[in-house]
Amino acid sequence: MAAQKLQLVPAAPSPEELAAAAERDAEGQANFDRVMAQDSRIEPRDWMPAAYRKTLLRQISQHAHSEIIGMQPEANWISRAPSLKRKGILMAKVQDEAGHGLYLYSAAETLGQSRDDMMDALIAGKARYSSIFNYPARTWADMGAIGWLVDGAAICNQVPLCRASYGPYGRAMVRVCKEESFHQRQGFEILLELSNGTAAQKQMAQDAVNRWYAPALMMFGPPDDDSPNSRQSMAWNIKRFSNDELRSRFVGMMVEQVRVLGLTLPDEQVRFNDETKKWEHGPLDWNEFKEVLAGRGPCNAQRVERRRQAHDDGAWVREAAAAYAAKQSAKQKEVVA
Ligand code: 3HC
Repeated sequence: MAAQKLQLVPAAPSPEELAAAAERDAEGQANFDRVMAQDSRIEPRDWMPAAYRKTLLRQISQHAHSEIIGMQPEANWISRAPSLKRKGILMAKVQDEAGHGLYLYSAAETLGQSRDDMMDALIAGKARYSSIFNYPARTWADMGAIGWLVDGAAICNQVPLCRASYGPYGRAMVRVCKEESFHQRQGFEILLELSNGTAAQKQMAQDAVNRWYAPALMMFGPPDDDSPNSRQSMAWNIKRFSNDELRSRFVGMMVEQVRVLGLTLPDEQVRFNDETKKWEHGPLDWNEFKEVLAGRGPCNAQRVERRRQAHDDGAWVREAAAAYAAKQSAKQKEVVA
């Protein structure tokens, strides 16, 4: 006969325990509300509402995944960069993105989810990452357009996140933004050199700007009327500006810079609205955005498959690191004993 399994049923909390938990929650909520009102920071050990934790985990993990998947379109060009100097710069940039992913996974881990779980979701195709990285990088000029437009949009979106109410996220953003500024400058410089080169090089630069402009504008997320998370994230001082507000600021920045580049934005409807004091742009194809988010963009399958492959290829490194850590910890225990 099969042995009977002993089932341990946790004892129901006593009325006193329930009352103490309710008191802790009430105090925690009061502190959280005070922190929000003072525009101060919540740290990992502070009490926080479950929905605030969930929202942060969602945004920070998606952001981390974007950095990691975002390495692919550029890494693909390292071996084809036109000079040793360009190769070195591009390699450094791609490494920076890996670093950003690591700070962000660490920030997300402080909220209670393991990096392994986040990575599993990514390689299972269940996690979101930025739409922009599902577009192909076709020519060398795309390295310029990605740096200038994509990293430019990232800076515009992320500088306000340096003031995010969750401490580890805001602090990670400070360093990320410094590095993104370098990335944008290197992209701008690639485009400037091509724009001042031969007619064919200038055309290649313009073509890259034409292809990356609209997807870069969509990086800011859906229009405000269609953004289910913005209002609450702004009330919690995570996001400081709405998607449309940041998109408009970005367009204004690009209008100035594209003149210096000697190129044009593929958008005849860009204009400064004197009444609203905001930059406006032409219509964007939000159906295309939805398709990309649903996994049906030009490179979605390829990006996730490549990440899965890289994860599998790196298994031996993780195993070796874990074995080394176990050995070190056993040695330390021997010394202590
Ligand atoms: N790509 C993919 N998904 C997007 C998206 C985009 N460009 N914009 C919005 N979404 C998703 C949201 O994640 C959300 O999905 P979910 O509810 O299933 O999680 C849904 O669309 C609705 O959008 P909301 O506007 O309501 O969502 P948010 O309030 O979270 O705003 C965001 C979206 C502006 C991207 C915000 O999450 C954010 O500011 N994130 C931090 C910045 C970030 O992740 N940047 C990635 C850019 S790439 C990068 O930094 C790498 C660098 O090297 C260039």
